[in-house]
Amino acid sequence: MIATTDRLSPTSAVKRLTIQTVGIATETTGMRSLDWDRDRFDIEFGLRNGTTYNSFLIQGEKIALVDTSHRKFETLYRETLTNLIDPASIDYLIISHTEPDHSGLVADILELAPDLTIVGAKVAIQFLENMVHRPFKSMQVKNGDKLDLGNGHELSFYSAPNLHWPDTIFTYDAKTKLLFTCDAFGMHYCDDHTFDEQTRLLEEDFKYYYDCLMGPNARSVLSALKRIEGLEIDIIATGHGPLLKYHIPQWMENYRVWSEEQTKTETLVALFYTEGYGYSEAIATAIAEGISRTGVIVEKIDLGSVDLPEVREWVMDAKGIVVGMPPQSAIQAQAALKTIIAATHPKQVIGLFESGGGEDEPLFPLRSQLFSNGLIEAFPPILIKEPPTLAIEQRCHEAGTDLGQELTRDRTIKQIKSINPDLEKALGRISSGLYILTTQKEEISSAMLASWVTQASLSPLGIAVAVSKDRAIIDLLQIGDRFVLNILEEGNYQHLMKHFLKRFAPGDDRFAGIKTYRANNGSPILADALAYLECEVTSRLDCNDHWVIYSTVEAGRVADVNALTAVHHRKVGNHY
Ligand code: FEO
Repeated sequence: MIATTDRLSPTSAVKRLTIQTVGIATETTGMRSLDWDRDRFDIEFGLRNGTTYNSFLIQGEKIALVDTSHRKFETLYRETLTNLIDPASIDYLIISHTEPDHSGLVADILELAPDLTIVGAKVAIQFLENMVHRPFKSMQVKNGDKLDLGNGHELSFYSAPNLHWPDTIFTYDAKTKLLFTCDAFGMHYCDDHTFDEQTRLLEEDFKYYYDCLMGPNARSVLSALKRIEGLEIDIIATGHGPLLKYHIPQWMENYRVWSEEQTKTETLVALFYTEGYGYSEAIATAIAEGISRTGVIVEKIDLGSVDLPEVREWVMDAKGIVVGMPPQSAIQAQAALKTIIAATHPKQVIGLFESGGGEDEPLFPLRSQLFSNGLIEAFPPILIKEPPTLAIEQRCHEAGTDLGQELTRDRTIKQIKSINPDLEKALGRISSGLYILTTQKEEISSAMLASWVTQASLSPLGIAVAVSKDRAIIDLLQIGDRFVLNILEEGNYQHLMKHFLKRFAPGDDRFAGIKTYRANNGSPILADALAYLECEVTSRLDCNDHWVIYSTVEAGRVADVNALTAVHHRKVGNHY
């Protein structure tokens, strides 16, 4: 018989917060913080049924707490825990993931039990060091590591990166056959049922949660499923919503099928880097952002903790591979590097970067080796020795975008060809001027040829420009950013057009050899333009593959009032 107790927050008249305490298995107690009225999670995740933050206490000879709760439960959670146990007797606090809905009370627990040891993935411990401003004992765990709490509670840890942060681990208790999965297999669903008896009621929320949180990392879901394959699981103790007990095979099968479906049509880039080494993380993230802009899926994989068979699978599946040089002394990362080389196949696209940690594996021998395996380089090696500046970050974005475009070229051509011929000709009759948009933000400058430009308002004076989402310049066209719209002159624009249509390598100066002077808003004005407008971005409209950038116009000037604007006539409307 399971005993449950509910405690009510004093502030419950406004927003109901309660905690359900329930014995879920031998010497194992669930403390479910029930947030009945929460209606939003992150910016984009609307909730209909509230949510819960689940924490668990395992009492072997040693005592372990698995995750905590959201900060809003501070008083209630402390009271609940103190009613169950003397908190000072807790030996381990297992952190499955460091987002504040699970780790919001770590500092409180440390105050109650300053001698406990925090157990988590390397990156989780690093995050916590920045979150909890006090020293604490810690134990970093990797995939396959074990921790014996005594009395049969042997815990095994499974690395589950990207579900949905890089820090996620699963914990399996051999005695109770409980698998603690934090966000994975969860749902934002708050009610009194501890378990998933009401499957039909839950299905929709389970899928919605998967789509929002797990689907974007479908390959990581498949990897995690593979790691826990063969485990005998009686309960999946999730971090949100009811615990899964009655239909475990079905819930897991759903994750497998949805993830396989999702990965079937994806173009994948496997990006290997080394967590915590040099500037690897920052560079990897910037390149990944650039790749994502082109609609290509990118998975970041830590060379320091990934299993070799998984490396092989990632490389076999990927159309593109990015590698950040690991330290020469890291044995596991070196083995992973050898596996990458062995698993590559001709025509895969590559990009390499140095991590800047001081003892990087040399980049150029690896590059030669990959060339001789028939791989194609998407961007020149990025060699970093110092903390990345804004300009380096921009260069990494551009490099990622170049790589993504290389991979999507065929798809784009196919899409272009698939438009109805009458329609494309009719659309081509929309004419426009020819412009070059230029911008400068701190030390970064950029430019793009634009033709989809129109005046959009009279008061205030405003224009709209459509910019493809895979343009690196889009970073410099956020709300509040300033730019210049250079209007080209009929009969005097070919040299400018030729220059700005060139393919620039990431980080190249777009204005080398072009005469410019500076506008009041700091952006370059092209000396050979017919006229210019100084603009400030005030809103952005998401138009699928383009952003429409609406901007107010602050100043402008015409060089020759008798000259005409260059006009762009197209035959078809399926490209610029
Ligand atoms: Fe439930 Fe990613 O936190």
